[in-house]
Amino acid sequence: MPRSVQPPCVVNIEDLRRVAKRRLPRVVFDYIDGGAEDELTLRANCRAYETVTFRPRCAVATPACDLRITVLGTPLSMPLILAPVGSSRLIYPRGEEAAARAAGAAGIAYTLSTLSGCRLEDVAVASKGPVWYQLYLVGGRDCALSAIERARAAGFSALVVTIDTPVAGMRERDIRNGVKELLSRKLGEMLPFVNQLLTKPRWLASFLADGGLMKFPNVIIPGQGPMLYADVTTALEQSMVTWHDLRWIREAWSGPIVIKGVHTGDDARRAVDTGADALVVSNHGGRQLDGVAPTLRMLPEVLASVGDRIEVLLDGGIRRGSDIVKALCLGARAVLAGRAYAYGLGAAGSAGVERAIEILRSDLTRTLKLLGCASIAELDRSYVDVPAELEK
Ligand code: GLV
Repeated sequence: MPRSVQPPCVVNIEDLRRVAKRRLPRVVFDYIDGGAEDELTLRANCRAYETVTFRPRCAVATPACDLRITVLGTPLSMPLILAPVGSSRLIYPRGEEAAARAAGAAGIAYTLSTLSGCRLEDVAVASKGPVWYQLYLVGGRDCALSAIERARAAGFSALVVTIDTPVAGMRERDIRNGVKELLSRKLGEMLPFVNQLLTKPRWLASFLADGGLMKFPNVIIPGQGPMLYADVTTALEQSMVTWHDLRWIREAWSGPIVIKGVHTGDDARRAVDTGADALVVSNHGGRQLDGVAPTLRMLPEVLASVGDRIEVLLDGGIRRGSDIVKALCLGARAVLAGRAYAYGLGAAGSAGVERAIEILRSDLTRTLKLLGCASIAELDRSYVDVPAELEK
């Protein structure tokens, strides 16, 4: 593992974010780091964890802490799943394979975004752990059906369907950084924005050596081949999934389905009614509708509605292992994290993702020991105090 992601340089996820910011062009860093509009929800996701406080049991010896859990029947070494992060191949050469490799080595699951730059078969081979495939309907139904079939054949064990993208959120940083112009492939339009690439020669050299601007090799347009790289606004506009689509998706995929982007108890019930096996309470990391409540705040409503019928996962704002512990104390079975590992990927590829997972794992163990709790399975509400807004 490179020194740049080890202590004393990197002690926590925020340090990885700083290292990633140094290596990446602004346009790429901001794509990971940014959210929609005023980024209220992005910040609120993180801040919600500050409002929950711990109630430790002291003088309790916990020589070994058991972090293992199962999600959808799959054993994981800790209650963390790497969330889908689109365009990871812009962050680091063969970025999706690099992240999947680190997840597999750590015994946790990796979720591959439809909008990725590596072939799903290569990603499945790169990981020796479970891999999940995240589905968008960009390219249309036939295109999705062929991706579903490929994912099944490659060994992906769950299908994650994201339901919060009828249109892309207004990501103002992307507009200011000239994403559209840089992707226009027209020199005149690109010129005012290329300096941010030229000032990161290490990133630029590795990006060019990796083939430059990728295509989407898992979005095969019938009669045309892989979809050309498109900015997220264009891609998400064509990605919408409706409850109606979930019916044919359910028929096409016989394995577990995870519905990601559930925000209310009502939608949680609809997710259960469509035959989902798990759901993710998610606001897309604050990248879609700005002004929605943080996911931690919505968790009790969703659990009250469907907690006894389906596995409830959560994402958004996870930057420390103690955040994971708090989410589990409030009833989530496990969490997904995107930015926390994407910063690691941007900092140092697979080694950076490994470091992000290692940070969260040691946080988890330490937090459990300080709480006097011997295992993840024993976490419950008695270990936390929650503000009134989280009581449901
Ligand atoms: C893709 O899903 C994104 O949020 O950028």
